[in-house]
Order: sequence, then structure tokens, then C-alpha cells
Amino acid sequence: MDKVVIYPGSFDPITYGHINIIERALKIFRKVIVAVSYSQSGKKPFFSMEERVGIIKEIFRRERRVVVEPFKGLLVDYVKSRNVDTVLRGLRTVADFEFELQMSLANKKMSGNIETVFMMTEDRYSFLSSSIIKDILSLGGRADELVPDVVIRRFSDRLKERKTDIVSWE
Ligand code: COA
Repeated sequence: MDKVVIYPGSFDPITYGHINIIERALKIFRKVIVAVSYSQSGKKPFFSMEERVGIIKEIFRRERRVVVEPFKGLLVDYVKSRNVDTVLRGLRTVADFEFELQMSLANKKMSGNIETVFMMTEDRYSFLSSSIIKDILSLGGRADELVPDVVIRRFSDRLKERKTDIVSWE
């Protein structure tokens, strides 16, 4: 298919659940733009924007059909600015449905030309979220089946930096 799709999210951090959606989308779309959102409705991100974008770029460094970009403001405005009309979202469980329906209807209201397509997240990742990963890693658990190595390394670097900061203030 000669279509480009935008896959938005906060990706703080990206997980194998997101990666699975992107890889499957590449079988349907010519190009996937992974759009990393600054705003997370009140959530303070663990990773900076540069880190989140950098991690995803590193993971997909050999896949030229994946483009990673930050975006600010309304998703519909960003989508229009890229001359794209299709947004991709993953659905993990029925619990995601209500929020996704609301969001896709709101986006449709703001811009009638934008369509949202949904892909079911594979069942082995349906329990996964970025917060779960941060919990597991910060409490010393193993997450190598849930996120790529680069996420684990960057997380541990950030954690060490923060501990050093705290110690240097004591
Ligand atoms: N695998 C694993 N985890 C997944 C997943 C998947 N396939 N899909 C979603 N998740 C997780 C995410 O990691 C995230 O976890 P967290 O809450 O612990 O951080 C959680 O599910 C929610 O993800 P998502 O629904 O993608 O929300 P988001 O905050 O990452 O992104 C935006 C939401 C950015 C797309 C949305 O807020 C937006 O469009 N913002 C721009 C402003 C705007 O236009 N607002 C009006 C919209 S109507």
C-alpha cells in the first residue's frame, strides 16, 4: 500500500508492544511515522524527548521506512502538517476501547479528513505499559522480554545519574 501512517504516543519508553504494532504496520503501510508526544496530560515523563526519540531511532536504525519525530500540540494539526490522513493506534484490551473511541471521535470532529485505524496488540503484550516497565526496572526486575536492551541500558544510566544527584545534595 502506498500510504503513510502516523503512530502517536508518549513512548516513555517504547516497549515490544509498540514495536510489534510498528512492525505489523510496515506490512500494510509504505511508511510509519512514529510521533512522540511532549504532552502526556499531566504525566511527567521519565525520559526526555531527546532520549525517547533517540531510543526509537536506534531500534529502527536499519528500517528506513520508520521515521521518528517529536510533536507538540494537537495531534490533528501535526498530522495535517505532515500531509498525512491516517493515524494508527494499538488496542491492548477492551479497557482501551472507550478512551480510543473518544479520542478518534474528537480528532474526527476537529478534522473530518483524518481516519484512525486500530490494530490489536498481540496478546503476549496486552498487559504491558510503559509505567509497568519503569516499575519493573526501578525495582530491579527483569524486563528483557518486554523491552529492547537499549531501553534497559538507558534506564539504568538515568537511574544512576539521579541517584548521584540525590547523593550530591545530601
Ligand atoms: N504495547 C504496550 N504498551 C502500550 C501499547 C502497546 N501496543 N499501546 C499503548 N501502550 C501503553 C503506553 O505505553 C502507555 O503507558 P503509560 O500510561 O504507562 O505511559 C499507555 O498504554 C497509554 O498509551 P497511549 O494511549 O498511546 O497514550 P500516550 O499518552 O502514550 O499517547 C497521545 C496519547 C499522545 C496519542 C494523545 O494524548 C494525543 O494525541 N495527544 C496530543 C494532544 C491532542 O491532540 N489531544 C486531543 C486528542 S483527542
